[in-house]
Amino acid sequence: MERVLGIDLGTTYSCVAVVENGAPMVIANKGGYRTTPSIVAFTAGGRRLVGHLAKRQAITNPQNTLFAVKRLIGRKWNSELVQQVKERMPYRLMEGPHNDIRVLVQDRQYSIPEISAIVLTEMKRVAEEFFKAPITKAVITCPAYFNDGQRTATKDAGRIAGLDVLRIINEPTAAALAYGFGKKIEKRVAVYDLGGGTFDISILEIGSGVYKVIATAGDTFLGGEDFDQRVADWMVFNFAKEHNLDPRTDPMALQRIKDAAEKAKCELSFQNEVEINLPFLFSTGKNRTLHFQKMLDRKKLEDLTVDLVERTIDICDRTLKDAGLSAKDISDVILVGGQSRMPKVQELVQKYFGREPCKNVHPDEVVALGAAIQGFALVSEQQEKKEETLLLDVTPHSLGIMIVGGYFQTLIEKNTTVPTSASHMFTTVKDGQTSARIMVFQGESKVASENELLGEFILSGLREAPRGEVEIEIRFDISADGIVSVSAKDIETGRQQSIVVTATTGLTEDEVRRMAEDNRDYLLSAAQDEEFEKQRVQAEKIIEEIEKLLPGVGEVISASRFSREALNKAEATIQRARLAIKRRELDTLTASREGLERTLATFKSLAARKG
Ligand SMILES: Nc1ncnc2c1ncn2[C@@H]1O[C@H](COP(=O)(O)OP(=O)(O)OP(=O)(O)O)[C@@H](O)[C@H]1O
Ligand SMILES: [Mg+2]
Repeated sequence: MERVLGIDLGTTYSCVAVVENGAPMVIANKGGYRTTPSIVAFTAGGRRLVGHLAKRQAITNPQNTLFAVKRLIGRKWNSELVQQVKERMPYRLMEGPHNDIRVLVQDRQYSIPEISAIVLTEMKRVAEEFFKAPITKAVITCPAYFNDGQRTATKDAGRIAGLDVLRIINEPTAAALAYGFGKKIEKRVAVYDLGGGTFDISILEIGSGVYKVIATAGDTFLGGEDFDQRVADWMVFNFAKEHNLDPRTDPMALQRIKDAAEKAKCELSFQNEVEINLPFLFSTGKNRTLHFQKMLDRKKLEDLTVDLVERTIDICDRTLKDAGLSAKDISDVILVGGQSRMPKVQELVQKYFGREPCKNVHPDEVVALGAAIQGFALVSEQQEKKEETLLLDVTPHSLGIMIVGGYFQTLIEKNTTVPTSASHMFTTVKDGQTSARIMVFQGESKVASENELLGEFILSGLREAPRGEVEIEIRFDISADGIVSVSAKDIETGRQQSIVVTATTGLTEDEVRRMAEDNRDYLLSAAQDEEFEKQRVQAEKIIEEIEKLLPGVGEVISASRFSREALNKAEATIQRARLAIKRRELDTLTASREGLERTLATFKSLAARKG
């Protein structure tokens, strides 16, 4: 059966898995790591680095190293959160053409899905290298609390990476799938997922292979990065107190502080105190370099971050209430996400649910494993060898439209099982009205503008008639991916109405296509560069060997009646190869390889006569 990648596209780390011989497995990258940092960097030569390679050089190349872009995906430029983040990022953000966000790297603008696509391309490559075969189908996960814009942008990222995205599924749901895989369980479980950038909580009922989500909620801006930030702020505060200087003015110092903060935070999950030591952190420019050195203990870390943990517990409480349940109705709590390793998190979760969370899932890998399981189930379904896994997920936000007075009319309630649809009958309100504007929102506020605007739809070509006579049915669909689409039908004629979508932050079809082409072009030229380098190294090695033999061969030739022809020919061959290297002509270089090898063989046999 065709392989389907399960990709957990994380804020800080990504993971890829696949079902092989009936069991899901994580695929390690070439370095042997089972997760890959979601970091993309651009070198001075314009080459892309992804994962550990990008992370390693972040300190010396902060402006061109992009991390945590998932926090920005599918968001609007003018949103408050984005304006906040902008100040903290060492890389440059700017407004895109659709009120979206772009990053500026070495004079080139990239959309956020393009950067995520580079990470996805790398995950695809990791799997393809492992299996030594191309794989194009994938299931990609996203936080359960992602709205329509964020989901669409994630799907676009997959398409830009050249993937056929079979489904976008929610991270906690994927985790539950992996947790229940191969077990016969009938349980109501809570998945608590505190990752690098986002927090999700989902309540599911699992039984007879059916995974039914009953409620979900979260915060797409609450995760490990915020814990790091608190530690970093504490470091900056202490440094400033001592030296009266803000070390963040130096991007390199800022990056070192960020790294040290995360490292200290992680270590404090296993030990009681750590020393944070950053020698030569900041140069005052007056021949003086300042260091940072301070102890941080677990208690202090907890004081700095406990409100973040409490926020997650509040969200758990709200979610249970929405589901009409209480903590004692949950029989298993599954902890997902690296940040859930923090003892304080485990303590508060245990206290709230009144039970110890289960320890038998791997917090960094379950999401990708679940995505692979879902991918496998989807292709089996197509081949009618139905696997008995059925996933029933829900939409995390209510969907509706703006009505008179700026109010929000809900058409699909949050926590409704997807796919789902709802219809709304619209009638003209003015005589002779031929078009109408409909604004679609996602959110829970009664005031439409306080919710997330998904898009504006213009219904046009309505029949000119007295008001109230023309009836148009508007249908809202939410797919299994959680992505919204809208269609309209003229009730009188049964004709489909055309809809023009504006005011979405999403990329246009043309942009996605062009970005996918750019990505393909880059990969092609990178593959050629790699091949050229391989050929160059080999050619230079042969040339070196030939040149070493030259004096000996020269002697043999002058002592015998051989003509100098062999020598001249060799020189010409070497020259041709060198020119190809200089001009970076792969074809000519490859062609000259044969000549070089022949010359080397001739020279070896000539040199042998000498002895
Ligand atoms: N031992 C630890 N103690 C505390 N935090 C940890 C530990 N190990 C990892 N983390 C944190 O977990 C986070 C990464 O978790 P994970 O890989 O699950 O997130 P992600 O999938 O990248 O993000 P998201 O799911 O939010 O998009 C980072 O912030 C990291 O610092
Ligand atoms: Mg995650």
